[in-house]
Amino acid sequence: MKENLIGDNFGIVLNAPYSISSKEIHKYLEQFGCIVFKNWANNREDFKTLSELLSDRFITHGAKVRRSVDHESTQTVTKGPDKIILHFEMHYSPIAPDYMWFYCESAPKKGGETTLGNGKELYMSLSSSTKSVLHDKGILYKNIWAKETIEKYFPETKRSSIIEALDSLGAQAQFLDNGELQFFFRTSPFNKDSRGDWVFGNTIAIHHQYKKNLKLFQEQDQTLRHEVCFGDGTQIPDSIFTEIEELSEKFVIPYKWQRGDIILVDNHTVLHGRNSYDPKEEREILVRMGIKPSNPAHFLFEPKKLENAS
Ligand SMILES: [Fe+2]
Repeated sequence: MKENLIGDNFGIVLNAPYSISSKEIHKYLEQFGCIVFKNWANNREDFKTLSELLSDRFITHGAKVRRSVDHESTQTVTKGPDKIILHFEMHYSPIAPDYMWFYCESAPKKGGETTLGNGKELYMSLSSSTKSVLHDKGILYKNIWAKETIEKYFPETKRSSIIEALDSLGAQAQFLDNGELQFFFRTSPFNKDSRGDWVFGNTIAIHHQYKKNLKLFQEQDQTLRHEVCFGDGTQIPDSIFTEIEELSEKFVIPYKWQRGDIILVDNHTVLHGRNSYDPKEEREILVRMGIKPSNPAHFLFEPKKLENAS
C-alpha cells in the first residue's frame, strides 16, 4: 500500500488493493477532508458497498439533469461538458448531505477532472471586509422546486409532511398554486470543522454561475429556481461574487480520473466542481450523497417516519 496527498495536508490517496474499516475512513476524512480510493472498484456494486460503510441513508438529488442508476440513490452528475465552479452540495437547503461519494466509470482523455477545494483555505483567503459582512448579515437562499424535483427528494410524501419537515429544519416552506415548492433558508455561509476552524463552502458563487447559465443546470426550464442574497434581503454586490470566483480559481485542485477510482468528500469542509471537457468524449461519473445519523435531516430519509401519501 502506498499513500500520498493531492494537496497541502489535503486529500489522501489510497491505492488498491487495500481493505478499510469505517473507523479508518472517518479518521482520514477528518484529517485530510477527502479520500481518493485509487483503482478501488470494479463495478457499481463495489462503489455501493464502500459508500455504505459510513451511512445507510442517501439523498436522491431532484435535478432533472441527473439520471438515477441501478437504484434511486446512485445518480449521474450534472449532465454536459461545462465547467462547474467549486461548491458545497445543497448547502442552500437544510438537507445538505454529509458525504459526497463519486465513482468513475469513464473519463475523458483530456479535461473533465473533478475539482476539489479546501474550505478552510478559502475562508482564510477571503478579504476581511467580505468575511465581516457575511458573518454579520448571513445569507438567504430562495428555492423553488419543480413537481418532479419534489417527487425525487420526497417520494410519495404528503405535502403537509414536507412543509412540517422543512419547517422543523429551519426553512420557511409553502406550496405554490402551480404545485411547486417554494422555501426560504437563512443561514451562515461559514461553518466550523472538527478542529473548530472556520470553513467557507462557496454556495454563493455557484448561484452566480447558475443565473448566467441556467441551461447547464435545468436544460429547457427557464424558471429561476435558486436565488441568494444577504440574510437581511439586500443584494450581494458583484465585487463579492468576483472575489469568491477568483479565489476558487486560485485554490482549485483538479483530480484526473481513471476508471475504477472513487472519491469521498466531506461536504462540510471540502468543495467540489469540475473542469470542462470535449463533449465528443465520454465521461460517466456516478454520485451518492450520504447522510450520517447526527445530520438534522436524517429522519427525512427514513420513510416510515414521514407520513406517506395514501
Ligand atoms: Fe455538486
